[in-house]
Amino acid sequence: MYRHPNPTTGATVVPAQAAFAFERLVLTGFMGSGKTTIGRRLADHLGWEFLDLDTAIERLGGRSVPDIFDELGEPEFRRLETAALTAALGSSRLVLALGGGAPESPANRQLLAGTPATAVVYLTAPFATLIERCHSQAEEPGATARPVLADRALAEQRFLRRASLYAGLATHTVLTDGRSPDQTLECVLGALGLP
Ligand code: S3P
Repeated sequence: MYRHPNPTTGATVVPAQAAFAFERLVLTGFMGSGKTTIGRRLADHLGWEFLDLDTAIERLGGRSVPDIFDELGEPEFRRLETAALTAALGSSRLVLALGGGAPESPANRQLLAGTPATAVVYLTAPFATLIERCHSQAEEPGATARPVLADRALAEQRFLRRASLYAGLATHTVLTDGRSPDQTLECVLGALGLP
């Protein structure tokens, strides 16, 4: 596929007539898998829009993710998540980072599988790696708390329960363990057949 670098931004632009089959690239995986970090870089690389589904949920809920969990409860968080996902999938030239729990809902899985021209890239790593990344991210300034990590044993149960859901939804799977964000981005581009 021939791709033009945008002279102003340096982003690689996928020409409209090119044979790239996708209009939406969705990143899925457990917390700490790199969905937001890689999603932003992927969107920059393509010159596409980036959306973090948690940000869309916060807009809909009018408060932060931890406050939605605290004040409205997880079922309401999940309801808002489905509403935000429905709206997001209406956009094209979009890179969308899901929250780690989004694939647990059958409605969300149906939405993702039923939206044409949508690739779902599963970023995978062992539980220990993911938890370690989440702990170091929690130390970063401005980090958002992850309520479902409060209990490590329950978090591991979620991880185990979700593994087959992520895999079942994925059109592409990329192992992130031992890879820097740049290396992971290269692997994602390779998996998608993009230079
Ligand atoms: C959740 C993951 C979070 C966020 C919320 C619940 C989960 O997103 O949606 O805290 O259930 O795994 P990230 O995977 O982006 O951290």
